[in-house]
Amino acid sequence: MFAIPSSRSLLGLLLASLAIPAAAAENDRAPWRPDKPILLRQSGGFTIGGKVIQHPVNPNMTLSCDHGYVEYFHPWRPRKTSIVMWHSSSTQTFQNRWDGGEGFKDMFLRREYPVYLWDGPRVGRANWACNVTYYAPDYRDQSNFVAWNFGPRYGEWWPDVRFPTENEYAWQQATSSRYQEFDSEASVNLETDAAAIAADSGKLGTDIVYLGNSASGLRAQMTAIKSNTTNIKGIVCYESYGYVFPEGHGIEPGPGLNAFGPIVVPLEQFKKLARLPAIQFLFGDHRDESFSFLNQSRQAAALINKYGGNAEVIHLGKDKGLKGTTHIAFADLHNKKIAGLLDEFLEDNGLTDYEKNDEEE
Ligand SMILES: *[C@@H]1O[C@H](CO)[C@@H](O)[C@H](O)[C@H]1NC(C)=O
Ligand SMILES: *[C@@H]1O[C@H](CO)[C@@H](O)[C@H](O)[C@H]1NC(C)=O
Ligand SMILES: *[C@@H]1O[C@H](CO)[C@@H](O)[C@H](O)[C@H]1NC(C)=O
Ligand SMILES: *[C@@H]1O[C@H](CO)[C@@H](O)[C@H](O)[C@H]1NC(C)=O
Repeated sequence: MFAIPSSRSLLGLLLASLAIPAAAAENDRAPWRPDKPILLRQSGGFTIGGKVIQHPVNPNMTLSCDHGYVEYFHPWRPRKTSIVMWHSSSTQTFQNRWDGGEGFKDMFLRREYPVYLWDGPRVGRANWACNVTYYAPDYRDQSNFVAWNFGPRYGEWWPDVRFPTENEYAWQQATSSRYQEFDSEASVNLETDAAAIAADSGKLGTDIVYLGNSASGLRAQMTAIKSNTTNIKGIVCYESYGYVFPEGHGIEPGPGLNAFGPIVVPLEQFKKLARLPAIQFLFGDHRDESFSFLNQSRQAAALINKYGGNAEVIHLGKDKGLKGTTHIAFADLHNKKIAGLLDEFLEDNGLTDYEKNDEEE
């Protein structure tokens, strides 16, 4: 169990006496080093959103279901911005680099951002569903390899790929740590109903930056559209598979279950994306402009900016020289450089301040 040390405890006194003076604390940028210890005030988790349904025959029996699950980590001396990590395939992608090295979760805890790992309804640790769910084994290892942009064909790595290609264990870890994603527009709506409640609750903080990847990019956009507060300050999506567009701009919703958008919403709703302080869509290397999600990201960013927003698209290979970046850039071997770009984003958008600490005043 994690106790919250009181300020009167020995530990608290010790830390207070070591704490940097208030004047320095208000100077946004604390020095951090890659080996700076992670000092937590608290960690834990909770469910949020969802509903309670009645048994069809015996109304005295109910089921609490379709909530999301959050695991949180609060630094001892937190910054104001919360980083909410919304995976597509597994929280594992944010926990470790491909070779087992440090992932974004620990990197941003060292930088003293509160970190939240989110599992949407029915996914991961929120799998207590209100409905029948179905998992069919689908022999996905080979298609994972290509979808994650490790190479053009299974087993044929890009020569510059930032994955430890000789490490069988790393490949096995990558391809097995997946969850069922429930890719459909109905599921996007179910997940984002809960996520918007979580965002508006204040329980993820009041300055949220979503980190999305792949299918969760679309979900983060829809969450911002459904949220009724200004708690969401930014969205950073690594290879978002899916975008939201406004009605009346010649974009048709995707066919069938519409797993990966486009999702078309009324213009007034779309403008909520334009009101976010900052949105960044990033792509890995070896992505041609004809890649449909890159193409859509450029169209979506242009429309967000047309309505007064602040969205940009970054091709990590061409724009930043980060050759061999994969679909899941934050787990790549050069993820320190990817984290450096996120530092710049947070800095440029005024999202690096610290919470005022009463004990220090
Ligand atoms: C439901 O609870 C009520 C009140 O306790 C009881 O009268 C009723 O018999 C219960 N119904 C069933 C189907 O168990
Ligand atoms: C639950 O299942 C029913 C029956 O298949 C379906 O009509 C409904 O859309 C499902 N609801 C959700 C939220 O998935
Ligand atoms: C936002 O407000 C609308 C309109 O009142 C409401 O339908 C919706 O549920 C609210 N969203 C959240 C996340 O509370
Ligand atoms: C991007 O998509 C638009 C609309 O479908 C299309 O007209 C355009 O040619 C595409 N651009 C590229 C580079 O493929």
